[in-house]
Amino acid sequence: MPEGGRSIPNMSKQTVKVSPIAASTPVRSSNLHKAGVPKLYDPGLATTLAYKSSITFLNGSAGILRYRGYPIEDLATSTTFDEVAYLLLFKYLPTRHQLEDFCASLSNNATIPSHIISIVKAFPTSAHPMTILVTALASLTAAYPDLNPAINGQSVYSSTKARIKVIHIVMGIMPSLAALILHHTSGTTYQNNFRKQQKPLSYTERFFQQAFTTQLRGMTSKTRSVLIHALDTLLVLHADHEQNCSTSAVRHLSSSGVDVFSSLSSGTAALYGPLHGGACEAVIHMLTRIGHSKNVPEFLEKVKNRQELLMGFGHRVYKTYDPRAKIVRRLLKQVLESDSNSTQDPLIEVATSLEKAALNDTYFVERKLYPNIDFYSGIIYKTLRVDPSFFGMFFAIGRCAGWLAHWQEFLDDNDRRIARPHQWFTGEVGPLKVPNIGEREQKQKSENADDWYSAKL
Ligand code: CMC
Repeated sequence: MPEGGRSIPNMSKQTVKVSPIAASTPVRSSNLHKAGVPKLYDPGLATTLAYKSSITFLNGSAGILRYRGYPIEDLATSTTFDEVAYLLLFKYLPTRHQLEDFCASLSNNATIPSHIISIVKAFPTSAHPMTILVTALASLTAAYPDLNPAINGQSVYSSTKARIKVIHIVMGIMPSLAALILHHTSGTTYQNNFRKQQKPLSYTERFFQQAFTTQLRGMTSKTRSVLIHALDTLLVLHADHEQNCSTSAVRHLSSSGVDVFSSLSSGTAALYGPLHGGACEAVIHMLTRIGHSKNVPEFLEKVKNRQELLMGFGHRVYKTYDPRAKIVRRLLKQVLESDSNSTQDPLIEVATSLEKAALNDTYFVERKLYPNIDFYSGIIYKTLRVDPSFFGMFFAIGRCAGWLAHWQEFLDDNDRRIARPHQWFTGEVGPLKVPNIGEREQKQKSENADDWYSAKL
């Protein structure tokens, strides 16, 4: 029996195990509510199971991450991003033939519609790359009116054909959009001709060819292949992470029946926030500000006094070392061994000192704060000689596989309802009489009330 002696409908004889990680018998909050239990107030949705999913398993206290049952460590060493994207999207790892077909279909969808090229070029080159991507993705819907439920009816996505078309369009164009935006913000020329390629390249190789025409000049082929491998592995690690802020945003938007491109645009916007995928950019800014390992103790004091956040540390779910961060650390070592210029990056020493000091400090130990995937990934991206503002793009081109997998899964969910959270109302209930403009002035004077609006200007 729950607290207060009320019985929960259909659940009175059930042993309810409530685990935020993998609750096998979660309680339906609507059942609790019907039984008279008040609505739960859950800031940040920290203890609410908002969706069902069979895509990614995460056990934060044991540091376990699995895509469709496969451990992330094994996927990172034995598969490519294309294979992992296929696994997330179609539920099983592809055969060689299926993989070739998949890569070919994605390459056939790599050309960017001309209206999007114009939109991207209309942005000042100083614009943040992720804001351009948000706009470009939302604009993509204009090229596919047949895939827009507002135009073509709400059953548009019931057809498997339409869903597969969406997947090929999005996964085909994401590397191209990222490359176009990189060229635009760097003032270089983008070649929009990928359809003409004879042999389909992998997702990551295609992105490299499209994006890094100037940055990689003069790089040895060994360094280049190490970097391609590192980026491909990072995309595997980024591909999905269950109900994170951006994936939930995609589900939230999709619940209204809006077109998939708008949902992905909202996911991208959520992703580039500094507390989410934007952290890899913020880590580089933080390390640059710290500047030298001798300044680490002073910086950590500021963190403990809540004047700073230690970017790239902490996670809502992981209460141990993020398993992805362990892999990133190994990758960084490989990258540094292959690129002598990067070894001299002074930020590496700052990062390692910062990590060591934090892991030995009771403030971080007591709160179970460990490095997350973003702590070292920015240093790898830095070896590609792109501005840190572009780093979120690497996350987005990997995470789009997960977003689409969740979008599909959500469409098939019998429990799907429009996302419409409730609020805990803390304002004036009223009803108040609306004063006329003269009365308002008098009232403010007599009460000596703060002129809130003018004070803020
Ligand atoms: N630096 C300093 N203190 C921290 C940090 C941090 N990075 N993260 C958490 N804390 C403290 C927090 O202040 C709180 O302390 P207290 O209990 O004394 O008030 C305690 O640790 C528990 O944290 P929380 O506020 O419950 O954490 P959360 O689950 O709400 O937030 C987070 C998770 C990732 C937003 C947060 O850890 C953070 O801001 N980290 C820095 C940004 C970052 O690296 N983000 C990337 C996350 S991984 C990539 C992705 O998947 O998005």
